[in-house]
Amino acid sequence: VSSALVCSEAFGAFLYQHCPVVAERFTPTPWCWGGRLQTLVCAFLKSKPPVTYRNELIHTVDGGQISLDWVDNQASAPYPDSSNRPTVLILPGLTGNSQQSYVLHAISQATRRGYRCLVFNNRGVAGEELLTPVTYCAANTSDLERVVQHVKGLYPAAPVLGAGVSMGGMLLLNYLARKGTDSGMVAGFTISVPWDAVKSSASMEEPLNWLLFNKFLTRGLCRAVTRHRKILEKVVDVDYVLKSQTIREFDERFTSLLFGYKSCTEYYRDASPDKKLPSTAVPILCLNAADDPFSPKNAFPLTIVQGLPNVALLLTAHGGHIAFLQGLFPRGESYMERLFGQFIQSVFEHPRDIKKACGIVKEQIS
Ligand SMILES: *[C@@H]1O[C@H](CO)[C@@H](O)[C@H](O)[C@H]1NC(C)=O
Repeated sequence: VSSALVCSEAFGAFLYQHCPVVAERFTPTPWCWGGRLQTLVCAFLKSKPPVTYRNELIHTVDGGQISLDWVDNQASAPYPDSSNRPTVLILPGLTGNSQQSYVLHAISQATRRGYRCLVFNNRGVAGEELLTPVTYCAANTSDLERVVQHVKGLYPAAPVLGAGVSMGGMLLLNYLARKGTDSGMVAGFTISVPWDAVKSSASMEEPLNWLLFNKFLTRGLCRAVTRHRKILEKVVDVDYVLKSQTIREFDERFTSLLFGYKSCTEYYRDASPDKKLPSTAVPILCLNAADDPFSPKNAFPLTIVQGLPNVALLLTAHGGHIAFLQGLFPRGESYMERLFGQFIQSVFEHPRDIKKACGIVKEQIS
């Protein structure tokens, strides 16, 4: 099985021309086959390019705050004027923040091309205080909306591309679907997004996946609750939350309660981006591996995407979850980073061509 690009003919032609990596066959590191192994090895081995952030805290209407990490790239040669410097807005995955190796690699790809980056840290995970008992969930797009408004307010002439990883991808797609032509973004990119949260959590509860990944992530979620115990105690039974053994239990006892869902299943249905794709209105490229333990292939929205002019799915047989390790010593840039670099460049350097290829009519161009 080799890689497959699922999209319209026109979008495909654009991608083959401007993102040649889509035509490559992804071959994993020879000693690191299998989605689980790729995912694990990546977490231990991947390098962390040095990045210096400028932190900004912005306030929200509910009295909370959001921690943004900027890389302004003032030294940008192609875009010396900050007012029109293209901006990549990065959304990390569950429990992740701006220090994740995949975020640092993405920033390295974007800044070398002259672009500005901004990491939207979910509330409570970037060292900042929680001012209200509100954290984050994959279905609630209010904070992302606030961030995009803030960025567009600062740089109205700079195009913004959203790049979401795993849960950050769910949030991004939910946002793009909710806002349609009014998203303030020129394109979207996702890596290893879970398409159906119910199916994802079933896959994550298979014994080996629970042992290798789920348990560890649940601990991370609980650590954040402990750190903000004082304020969260006002709205949830913290001791009960901390007894969670799986992400689903955590979402049952915490996330769905906090965001007003009747049940975790209701939250998971609302958070799943697959069926919302038809409401999106900008070019979107999504990379998924068929052996991803977090995002099972039985949930890939092939039929839906086949009917959409603006969405492309790039599916590889191997690669695991946010891993895609290649070469004998896979510490540096690999398939995932090259694809990201080529795609953001194609969006920012060929804006007219990509809109045309995705059947986006002139009236919608802002
Ligand atoms: C997100 O959650 C907040 C706090 O619970 C709520 O006020 C807001 O309406 C929600 N937004 C969306 C888009 O669901």
